[in-house]
Amino acid sequence: MAAPSCHILTGVIVFLLYALIPIINGSKLEDEFEGLRTLTVEHSLDSGFNPEFTKRGTVVIRSLKGNKAQFQESSPFDSHLRSKLKTATRENGVYRIRMPTTSTGTLEDGDYVSTFVMACSVYESALSDKLIINVDQTGEVIGISMTTFPSECVGWDMPDSDLTHWNTTVDISQTVQGPVPDTQSYIDKMKREEAERAKGQQGENKSFFGRYVSTGIL
Ligand SMILES: *[C@@H]1O[C@H](CO)[C@@H](O)[C@H](O)[C@H]1NC(C)=O
Ligand SMILES: *[C@@H]1O[C@H](CO)[C@@H](O)[C@H](O)[C@H]1NC(C)=O
Repeated sequence: MAAPSCHILTGVIVFLLYALIPIINGSKLEDEFEGLRTLTVEHSLDSGFNPEFTKRGTVVIRSLKGNKAQFQESSPFDSHLRSKLKTATRENGVYRIRMPTTSTGTLEDGDYVSTFVMACSVYESALSDKLIINVDQTGEVIGISMTTFPSECVGWDMPDSDLTHWNTTVDISQTVQGPVPDTQSYIDKMKREEAERAKGQQGENKSFFGRYVSTGIL
């Protein structure tokens, strides 16, 4: 009598194992694609304080930890953009990009990280660049930087046929904690330090030397 029930039990265990294997594999798969999401990249060749941005394309992040991300342009680099790029290059202008931070994911004013390079470097690189996106431990975008290949301008003339499509690679850099290449954070830090300095002067009366050591000037 013991033997059949033993077989049944073995059968149940084997069945459970087979049922569980796909689930275990599935969770591994999810892990690999843990960061899948899409971020919008906008750009501008306008000069002045209120540049108008248009969509350049999207960055698709497949894995934050695995640093797997791709850039997809939303439309070809058309003649309008080309002529703007040439003008900006002649006038020593800048090329700006910005990206909304993940927490909002929307395109409202103020929720961006941004950076810029010289327009001539975009022109002479024939639109070859690398975007480095800094994210914090939760995956939130905290900074963006951009570099072109080559990064220096030497005064080359580029044919229009080389200025039609972006040749962009994307690096995801997950920061544990550290400096953020983002102007707003830098400004916030300066403001905080200034406030602390003012507070320090009102409160305890440090020596001349002590005050300068604590503010990091020496
Ligand atoms: C694309 O960019 C890489 C550098 O990231 C460069 O080596 C390559 O020649 C570029 N390709 C084209 C078609 O411009
Ligand atoms: C701070 O120190 C200066 C001299 O260094 C002194 O004249 C002043 O009275 C001190 N202020 C306070 C609040 O202790």
